[in-house]
Amino acid sequence: MAHNSPSQPCAFILFGATGDLARRKLLPALFRLFCENLQPEKFAVIGFALPDQKHPEYGDFVRAALTEFVPDKERLSCSLDDFIAATSFVPANFTDGEGYQRLKAEMDRVEKERETLGNRLYYMATPPSLVPDILNQLSAASLTTQSAVQTPWTRIIAEKPFGIDRDSARRLTDLFHKVVTEEQVFRIDHYLGKDAVQDVSILRFANSLFEPLWNRGYIEQVQITVAETLGVERRGGYFDAMGETRDMVQSHALQVLALVAMEPPNSFAAKAIREEKSKVLEAMRPLSSHYAVRGQYGPGKDPDGNPVPGYRGEQSVPHDSNTDTFMAARMEIESWRWAGVPFYIRAGKRLPRQVTEVNIQFKGAPLALFRGSTRRPEPNRLKLRIQPDAEISLVVELKRPGTLRDLVPVELDMYYQETFDAPLRDAYERLLVDALAGDAVLFMREDEIDAAWRVVDPLLAYWRSEPADFPNYAAGSWGPAAADELIARDGRSWFN
Ligand code: BG6
Repeated sequence: MAHNSPSQPCAFILFGATGDLARRKLLPALFRLFCENLQPEKFAVIGFALPDQKHPEYGDFVRAALTEFVPDKERLSCSLDDFIAATSFVPANFTDGEGYQRLKAEMDRVEKERETLGNRLYYMATPPSLVPDILNQLSAASLTTQSAVQTPWTRIIAEKPFGIDRDSARRLTDLFHKVVTEEQVFRIDHYLGKDAVQDVSILRFANSLFEPLWNRGYIEQVQITVAETLGVERRGGYFDAMGETRDMVQSHALQVLALVAMEPPNSFAAKAIREEKSKVLEAMRPLSSHYAVRGQYGPGKDPDGNPVPGYRGEQSVPHDSNTDTFMAARMEIESWRWAGVPFYIRAGKRLPRQVTEVNIQFKGAPLALFRGSTRRPEPNRLKLRIQPDAEISLVVELKRPGTLRDLVPVELDMYYQETFDAPLRDAYERLLVDALAGDAVLFMREDEIDAAWRVVDPLLAYWRSEPADFPNYAAGSWGPAAADELIARDGRSWFN
């Protein structure tokens, strides 16, 4: 999909350098890029945050993070000490102007010592509420330039959620545009960095087999499931203000849907692909409560059978929280290609299995030719499993050997792990490589975000005004009964 041009020297400034995302994902990803020589030759990481209480020295924080989250680091051919030597830290509060002066001094030092030419990639790995402050401070301290490509360039990676509704996302975009141009903003959705998600487009457009069938004439329904077994862990404070619909559906699930449903782009350049994804999201009918179900888990069991508390008993979650940890919806795309084809989406925490999967079910065979068979042939189904074990499979009907008419559905399978004999690269690594190279294909443009909020906003507003009858599913189950009823109304059921 995105091709990586060689990246230029630069400094990588990590806001929220002592946070969970930095610890679990970003520092490990940067370390791997460092080990595999995928980062620029002249490069430096500058952390910006309040120091971690347990590891006041940033080098110790980095070491602890990499020890915990890069389990195979002994096999990587580079030294942790070298990586730490390329890393520095500015202890500061995000709202403190003086901290940005120290950041400026640190960037000057790094630019001289590491010859990073004034190119800067900022990463906002902070709670979303802090982003406006950081932008204002960067602008006040003149720490940005106006180019995404010409040295000295500035690029800013912004984490999701981008706003909490359409209005706030628009205000945030306006603020970004006061400081930098749209080309300089890299809105990250890490699902787009997953190999199996990129393969949705490759499967469709590098093969001639599927595209003629990829429309309302042949496709009966599409289901997208994003199921997690985890609860909200230590992120209760953040999650409670968001809920599953914002956290997983407005972003990840709708991005996957857009890739499944988009028209063939003119090229695989950022502009062309984002244009097509945006058109899909704009053609979606905004969600109403009639076609959506919300849920919140109560006490139950994890996949190993151990008892787990309900959502309201999680750390930092209010005891009467009205926040959704599950949502299911029937979505429609009002376009020539998709009119009348339902797209069912389901996302939830504390479900029985971790699985992200797209199921595309084709219409049944036009004629029941095999009348004497023991059962009706099932319609064909293309399954794109994104995780945990990425797989593409096509379910077709065949007959059981030795019999004449005993039809059985069988899966023609391709498992990534077996076929490519290599572990899948973490999505963040892939996206960092692209951002370093200035390639925005896998990042979201302002209009995509706007259109995605347009889809979920009315539903969220309605839900806010109506208290829910929570909890309504047990941890370890497939969500509330209403989710099954939602799809049963159409005479269908979820592919579990
Ligand atoms: C994040 C959400 O964006 O994605 C989390 O904020 C969620 O709530 C996570 O757990 C899931 O990511 P992945 O890659 O494990 O499916």
